[in-house]
Amino acid sequence: MMSTAGKRILVIGATGQLGGAVARRLLGTGHLVRALGRNPQKLAALEALGAEITAGDLLDANCVMNVCADVDQILTTANNAMGTGAASPNRVDLRAYKNVCRAAREHRISRIVHVSAQDTGGASSPVDFFRVKHQVDELICGSRVPWVLLAPTVFMETWIETLIGDAVRKGKPVMLFGDGTSRANFIAIDDVAEFALRILDDPTITNEVIDVGGPSVCSFAEVTTLIERRLGAPAKRRHMPVPLLRAGSVVLRPFSEIGARLMAMGYFTATSTNAFTNWQPAAQRFGVQPITVEQFIEKTFAVLS
Ligand SMILES: NC(=O)c1ccc[n+]([C@@H]2O[C@H](COP(=O)([O-])OP(=O)(O)OC[C@H]3O[C@@H](n4cnc5c(N)ncnc54)[C@H](OP(=O)(O)O)[C@@H]3O)[C@@H](O)[C@H]2O)c1
Repeated sequence: MMSTAGKRILVIGATGQLGGAVARRLLGTGHLVRALGRNPQKLAALEALGAEITAGDLLDANCVMNVCADVDQILTTANNAMGTGAASPNRVDLRAYKNVCRAAREHRISRIVHVSAQDTGGASSPVDFFRVKHQVDELICGSRVPWVLLAPTVFMETWIETLIGDAVRKGKPVMLFGDGTSRANFIAIDDVAEFALRILDDPTITNEVIDVGGPSVCSFAEVTTLIERRLGAPAKRRHMPVPLLRAGSVVLRPFSEIGARLMAMGYFTATSTNAFTNWQPAAQRFGVQPITVEQFIEKTFAVLS
């Protein structure tokens, strides 16, 4: 197998949740890492671990061209899911990735590994951010730079810890989309980072979509019950009806881009199933053992005294 040892990996989105986890893993396993993001404090933490850092904006084409010099591969997680106005994904993401693809071509980067997402509804998704993500995926696949799309299911940290867990911890009502019975496959960010590391270490993988997920498929109502049991604290549940989510995703658009996007995500979540059960082939291929929802809840939530 060809070796990636001593070759520089540019992590774009290194100041984010997943990009940070990948950068730390790469540094911890002796890789040469250049980290790009906009947040200087988070970059400084990576510098302390041995990364070369660049604080910059992907909308700055010169910055992107310069940061790609002497880079072998790019791992990118950059996105603006919660962006609004000038920072909206509708305004930023495609332009940003055009700069990345141009610079990658110019510098003959060997591969772009882009973290995408699974089952987003593609070009006709009701969620604007997912439509943009689909455009970015298409751009990268047509860039003439060898690519990999790493497509995880939903992150446990986002949907279990933040969305549901925070409410239960604080004694606030858990907001369930629709009746809360739509099911999803969940994966922990550390497990996605491990898949990314294994892909980056194998340069023979090119022009492939790699779907990854964890062993657990469950509904948001079931997740709420598991957290209640772990914390020993009952949670109040509120249900956001599907017609309200649908209407809100349209009506809110002129007033609140984020509000409309969250309503659209809620609508999409309540009306679609991402019950990815075929997670084992990728896990076996890359030697990753993703954790279950139960394991995640046990390690994340301390029992309330
Ligand atoms: N959450 C989920 O359930 C889920 C499921 C499947 C897939 N995914 C995908 O996984 C990926 C990683 O998600 P995440 O939660 O780790 O994202 P995140 O924490 O929001 O990180 C986003 C990163 O993008 C960077 N960024 C955005 N625009 C930039 C720009 N113009 N210039 C420079 N940097 C820019 C941010 O930099 P600064 O913070 O420094 O500004 C940050 O480092 C995303 O593509 C997401 O769609 C997520």
